[in-house]
Amino acid sequence: MIETLRQTAVEAKARLAEVEDLDELAELDVEFLGKKSAVTLAKRQLGSLDPDERRTAGREVNEIRAEIETAVESARERLAQAARVLRIEAERLDLTEFRGKARRGSLHLVTQSRDRLEDVFVGMGFTVAEGPEVESAWYNFEALNIPEWHPARGSFDTIFVDLGEPEEVMLRSHTSPVQIRTMENQKPPIYIVAPGRTFRTDTADATHLPAFNQIEGLVVDRGITMGDLAGTIDEFVHTFFGGDVKSRLRPSYFPFTEPSAEFDISRADGTWLELGGCGMVHPNVLRNCGIDPDEWQGFAFGFGIDRLAVMRHELDDIRELVNNDVRFLRQF
Ligand code: PHE
Repeated sequence: MIETLRQTAVEAKARLAEVEDLDELAELDVEFLGKKSAVTLAKRQLGSLDPDERRTAGREVNEIRAEIETAVESARERLAQAARVLRIEAERLDLTEFRGKARRGSLHLVTQSRDRLEDVFVGMGFTVAEGPEVESAWYNFEALNIPEWHPARGSFDTIFVDLGEPEEVMLRSHTSPVQIRTMENQKPPIYIVAPGRTFRTDTADATHLPAFNQIEGLVVDRGITMGDLAGTIDEFVHTFFGGDVKSRLRPSYFPFTEPSAEFDISRADGTWLELGGCGMVHPNVLRNCGIDPDEWQGFAFGFGIDRLAVMRHELDDIRELVNNDVRFLRQF
């Protein structure tokens, strides 16, 4: 009996090694391990043997059964693995067929302008700083020498955030708060630019966006003068726009700079375009950040990146930048 069973096991393993699908495997499982299989029948016959014979024969039958079970399991594993390979093959996307047809994405033109600005200023020795878009009154106004009663607060058209806090919270209305954050954390000499998003209650029109981008510049060092400011702006304008574009400063007023100026750049038609504000950092601002104005002087400037992109690409309407019309965006 055991001899025949061994032969059955050899046959079972041979056929299991060649099984090709799960139905066939289920049939073999029944044939070699099911109720009517040789192993099961042999087990039933064990009862008629005497106890000693039964023990040895029983062990052999169990071993043979275990061998067949292992062969069934490895056949199952082999089929599952093959099925996985097939599925992966079937799900694979052949992207080579898109080659040449697919359109490559590109950076948004504001991002391009921002990257270029950073490059130009990094080339001039500045590092890039950042600050949060949600600010407290201290950073957006007070430390910048704009106390609560100051009329200049009204000119910033600030968007407030109602968090129910005792302190006023707002979306920053300019990137100048980064001046304060930098001076609080860094000792002079300081040479930074800080690009980022800014917000005002403006209604979107051809020249305004309620969410726009500015770049702030701050220099604090010994013996810094208005001449350094004018030279830096001139240098930047030449590098960014090309050699024949000129810059000029016009007297202006900002609470955080003294003296203050607005700076314009020359256009091809001989007119001037207002780009941003600048000036010598007000002594109160330095003091608010624990910097001694008798030892250190500085200048700061800030201007809109979106307007710069509008000018560089001669767009008619600044809203094109946020309409997300791919037909427009693809051109850049
Ligand atoms: N923060 C000013 C604005 O948004 C611009 C500015 C920056 C002016 C730095 C002077 C110095 O209008």
